Amino acid sequence: MGNDAIRGDTAPEDSITIVNNASGDKVTFPILQGSCGPRVIDIRKLYGATDMFTYDPGFTATGSCESKITFIDGEAGILLHRGYPIEELAAHSDFMEVCYLLLYGELPTAGQKDKFVHAITHHTMVHEQLHKFIDGFRRDAHPMAIMCGVVGALSAFYHDSTDISDPYQRMVASYRMIAKMPTIAAWAFKYSLGQPFIYPRNNLNYAENFIHMMFATPAEDYEISPVIARALDRILILHADHEQNASTSTVRLAGSSGANPFACIAAGIASLWGPAHGGANEAVLNMLNEIGSPNRIGEFVEKAKKPDDPFRLMGFGHRVYKNFDPRARLMRESCHEVLNELGVENEPLLELAMELERIALEDEYFVQRRLYPNVDFYSGIIFKAIGIPVSMFTVLFAVARTVGWVAQWNEMVEDPNQKIGRPRQLYTGYEQRAYVPLAERG
Ligand code: ACO
Repeated sequence: MGNDAIRGDTAPEDSITIVNNASGDKVTFPILQGSCGPRVIDIRKLYGATDMFTYDPGFTATGSCESKITFIDGEAGILLHRGYPIEELAAHSDFMEVCYLLLYGELPTAGQKDKFVHAITHHTMVHEQLHKFIDGFRRDAHPMAIMCGVVGALSAFYHDSTDISDPYQRMVASYRMIAKMPTIAAWAFKYSLGQPFIYPRNNLNYAENFIHMMFATPAEDYEISPVIARALDRILILHADHEQNASTSTVRLAGSSGANPFACIAAGIASLWGPAHGGANEAVLNMLNEIGSPNRIGEFVEKAKKPDDPFRLMGFGHRVYKNFDPRARLMRESCHEVLNELGVENEPLLELAMELERIALEDEYFVQRRLYPNVDFYSGIIFKAIGIPVSMFTVLFAVARTVGWVAQWNEMVEDPNQKIGRPRQLYTGYEQRAYVPLAERG
């Protein structure tokens, strides 16, 4: 079936007809079926056929693109990357393999993986002048502010990978961003400490390299804990992509105008920063610290339920998951493993989080609205356990999500149906009126 809207009574079986109750006009729209998930009404011809737009703030019922990368069934709590369940990837894979999978659509052979890891490893250094760029920030700048600025500025340093019509340049830009993000992130942290920047080392894997650049100093040897490196690699896998979330949609929207990839990823970082999205992991830890002790949980749960109070339980609820976020389950497991392996017994924040989770999951308000812990609920506790400071939590999310942004951006650029993203609106402002000169305004 084509995607044309049909006027009148001829309605093919796999279609939907809307009737204007005032005029009796009928218009039929095709229904599309993806490989998984609910069917989709193709309303591309709606405006032409009816002179009407749809109104859907927050895109709660709107598919903005066709994608083959990630599938979520929010009712069942399922997350698949290129068809592979997140649980299997977290158990058997590593972050580099997941990056390859997201970018290329298939798991790599051993040879393909070696080549990919080699290429990423050999793009981890950043232009030397970026030191000066970072030096321009105030010492107390939030590392996410530095990330927004520095990643956007990469387009001024790597002109040879900004021609988006050239697939080779697109891939070079993609590799550069995946490879350089940990370096920039670690340097943002080092800058806040006033410590020297640590350069990447090619004998370390992706997670080890990041840990080394974060915590080593030139003054002494730094031993990387394999427990921490493994935990970080798993966290990176769990955050790698999540279909059309706010930051990914931002990357796609920015990219839809033909903007260069570095600028688009900087836009994604800006969107991720908000507490309703990637900023939630930082907010969860701040909230747990504020709650302080299990006997204050009730007070905070009650506050979260008040309709006129903007406070929400951070790390709870999700636009898509109306069941357990599978990443939260894995993160919870990881959290216990990491704390056990590091010998952190009775971590009060973890105990507080588990008690908060228990109380909220039994509360009628949360049950009715199907609000479950999301990935951010437990990630902050692991970050804290492995020594990542709170202000770096969202930065870590950005490091992990870069591959998802880049894969989705490439898919968009290659999509023959791609158009500039340009939503319409329900205008409720003044109708046209005449300009009033200053002297006549009362
Ligand atoms: N605490 C208390 N109430 C909540 C919460 C929460 N965390 N989340 C949703 N609700 C309530 C809403 O107030 C609303 O109640 P109402 O029907 O009485 O008005 C109902 O549940 C539905 O919530 P919406 O806001 O319509 O859901 P939406 O899909 O727009 O929001 C969001 C999803 C932004 C994630 C929201 O649940 C939230 O703010 N959670 C806290 C922040 C957070 O953890 N963000 C991380 C998301 S995951 C990620 O980005 C990796």
